[in-house]
Amino acid sequence: MRVVNTIAEVRAARSGMGPMGLVPTMGFLHAGHISLVQQAKAECGAAAVSIFVNPTQFGPKEDLARYPRDLPRDLEMLEAAGVDLVFTPEPAEIYPQGFASRIEVGPVANPLEGASRPGHFAGVATVVAKLFNIVQPTRAYFGQKDAQQVVVIRRMARDLNMPVEVIVAPTVREEDGLAMSSRNSYLTPAQRAAAPVLFQALSLARARFEAGERSADTLRSLMREVIVTEPGVEIDYVSIADPGTLQELDQVGVAALASLAARLGRTRLIDNLLLGA
Ligand code: PAJ
Repeated sequence: MRVVNTIAEVRAARSGMGPMGLVPTMGFLHAGHISLVQQAKAECGAAAVSIFVNPTQFGPKEDLARYPRDLPRDLEMLEAAGVDLVFTPEPAEIYPQGFASRIEVGPVANPLEGASRPGHFAGVATVVAKLFNIVQPTRAYFGQKDAQQVVVIRRMARDLNMPVEVIVAPTVREEDGLAMSSRNSYLTPAQRAAAPVLFQALSLARARFEAGERSADTLRSLMREVIVTEPGVEIDYVSIADPGTLQELDQVGVAALASLAARLGRTRLIDNLLLGA
């Protein structure tokens, strides 16, 4: 496994490799990240992983400074997963003095996470475009856990004719249903015990949808009712939206994205389930 931190080293290493799958990450890896890595390795033959806590996707009041990091542990996990190339740039390598361009993806970046985190998806799209240009992967792998991120990156890759196939992999969960996330490490034991309420709310929406409920308002209300049973969990949003446009629905047709964001103390968690897919 080659571990490099400059763009020049990535390009040199990449030129000797054939088809490659890229998994962009911000590190502090868990089984969700590793599932993407394993799929990349199995499908492409060679796998590259980037570890970069991208400052431009964090708002001024967000957790950039305290975002969890453990590079030695991450590298051990990636070595064990058979990764070929790891890119761990410093911020100045990605955003040198004078850096000024950014990618705005359009309406799919505006609701949900985009409304709660202004500028977040411009930061994500810009860094992912740069990683695509630096690594030039055949395929790039993203988790359904960040459903809107997938929609934004697919839109960008299509709109800008990026020669990369964007692959989405299922959300990996803890045994009690909590979606794995680097941010789960912030949770106190009491918050960790409350956190599965988010997946329970989504699961209820899915069960009611499968039982025939088609009113989006009813599904949103049901999710809220489940979440408020945990007093330490503060809802940011609950949504029943069109999976392609991310616009809120009145009635669910064939499919919907049920998604939510909530705060447990200072920690903000997101999760989602596709209904009817
Ligand atoms: P990060 O949160 O580190 O996630 C890296 C990738 O792992 C993303 O595609 C994310 O959706 C996926 N992932 C996270 N938790 C998952 C889970 N429980 N199951 C399956 N996949 C999961 O997302 C980012 O980093 C950044 O925004 C990035 C794309 C790297 C751009 O900076």
